[in-house]
Amino acid sequence: MCDKTKEACSILAQNDRGGYTVPTHDLYPFQWNWDSAFVAMGFATFNVDRAYQELERLVEGQWNDGMIPHIIFHQPSDTYFPGPDVWRTDQHRQTKPTTSGITQPPVFGTALRYIYARHNIRERTLILFNAALRSHRWWLTARDPDQCGLVAILHPWESGSDNSPAWDEALLRVSTTTKTDIQRQDTKHVNATMRPRTIDYQRFIHLVETYRECDWNPKKQWLAAPFKVADVQITAILARATADLLWLASELHLTEEMQELSTMHCRLIRGLQSRWRENLRGFVSLDLISGKDIEKSTQACFIPLIALKLEDYQCEMVRKEIDRWCHGLILGVPTTPLFSSDFESKRYWRGPVWAIINWLIADGLRYNQLRDLAVNIERNTIDMIERNGFCEYFDPITGEGLGGNAFSWTAAAYLVLKHRLELL
Ligand code: DGY
Repeated sequence: MCDKTKEACSILAQNDRGGYTVPTHDLYPFQWNWDSAFVAMGFATFNVDRAYQELERLVEGQWNDGMIPHIIFHQPSDTYFPGPDVWRTDQHRQTKPTTSGITQPPVFGTALRYIYARHNIRERTLILFNAALRSHRWWLTARDPDQCGLVAILHPWESGSDNSPAWDEALLRVSTTTKTDIQRQDTKHVNATMRPRTIDYQRFIHLVETYRECDWNPKKQWLAAPFKVADVQITAILARATADLLWLASELHLTEEMQELSTMHCRLIRGLQSRWRENLRGFVSLDLISGKDIEKSTQACFIPLIALKLEDYQCEMVRKEIDRWCHGLILGVPTTPLFSSDFESKRYWRGPVWAIINWLIADGLRYNQLRDLAVNIERNTIDMIERNGFCEYFDPITGEGLGGNAFSWTAAAYLVLKHRLELL
């Protein structure tokens, strides 16, 4: 095992808090939903039992209605804001750990398939499969009540791309007033220039308060939401995870579930297909309040490739567009391109390169027979981590590692991509 691979494994061990992994010390001291799904795949490359455990600990926080929350507060910590006292979600738990009240991209089903394909432990898989299926049902009822085949986020934190330029216009409708005293902790751990701005946090917390006043009831939230975006990135992740659950249902001989998943899958695929825009050479999200396309260039434009088989001409357009985005940069693929007026090389989701986004984009390119470009991105991602460390994200102009360090999902991406390229 090479030194970097050892380091990746030891970061996962270091961030282990007893069967679940924190994304990094201090900055994110709890279990995060999509982080854990990526981390579970990282573990699966060398410790299948621990990979299953990561998902098992995540579903300890699943709500009675099926939602898997974005944060599970297994143990108290005062290094993160907003904590459980701000979320106040207690009525949605039985005897479970405290959680936040919103969700995150559902990578779970994809992680479960990845683990099962490496070591099929039927009983453990079945329990997790049922949890995942309940959460997909929640997504389609709570977040696509009009059955348009696209699921909506009601909070930018749900997208995982918190301060993406994609949300700028929709967020203008959200008030900046809050009842909560905003006591940010993130800027004590990471330079403020790399994080969302104060005004973003005011809106993030205003939204939390709005949904808390709806008693976290999905129907009430849907009606009250001042921010409601049918996001192509999250829909693509859900569609892909649905296909992965369908594969698992077939492996596990679950005929009725196969039928149900296949209906869900068709609905999501149709929804995603409707979001392709030729002039933009990618896919666009939909602001459900204004009814308008969100035309901002962000990494989300490419994520539907993980779920959709594109026509040859579309593949060619996407390939050229990714080349254009990476041109002149030390590192690609940026989350916002250099030519966009929104680009900021260090500020979180407004430019920096993220290893897990490159992993998703490469998956989508492979699924669409664009293998050479995928391998290129995978190799560059490995190289970027070897040169700059296991950071949360990277400056595409200088290559500098940014945000938190010793980051779990960056370590997981390193392991999975090296494994895929047979470099482990
Ligand atoms: C944060 O606090 O920055 C997270 O992204 C929200 O989940």
